[in-house]
Amino acid sequence: MAKKSEIPDNEGKIEKIAGKKVALFNKAGKICAFSTICPHMRCDVLWNKRDKTWDCPCHGSRFQATGELMRGPAKRDLDKIGIKEKGDELELA
Ligand code: FES
Repeated sequence: MAKKSEIPDNEGKIEKIAGKKVALFNKAGKICAFSTICPHMRCDVLWNKRDKTWDCPCHGSRFQATGELMRGPAKRDLDKIGIKEKGDELELA
């Protein structure tokens, strides 16, 4: 179960929501959600706490905290995932 209160402002975290891995980022109180699957060859991206980016360990693609592609070999942004807040809990929309 993913809780909004466990994702500090300007931090990212990977959580399972309804069995699906979701990359979550708290942007000034608003939670942005993305697929963890790198669009290059489907490895899972990881949160880079120092640089505040999503980094792919397989071939080095990098994405901004808000999912936009920064560096390939991936050629597109992380897929957005719709979520809704139910109190402190985050659910798939
Ligand atoms: S699978 Fe992510 S960079 Fe290749």
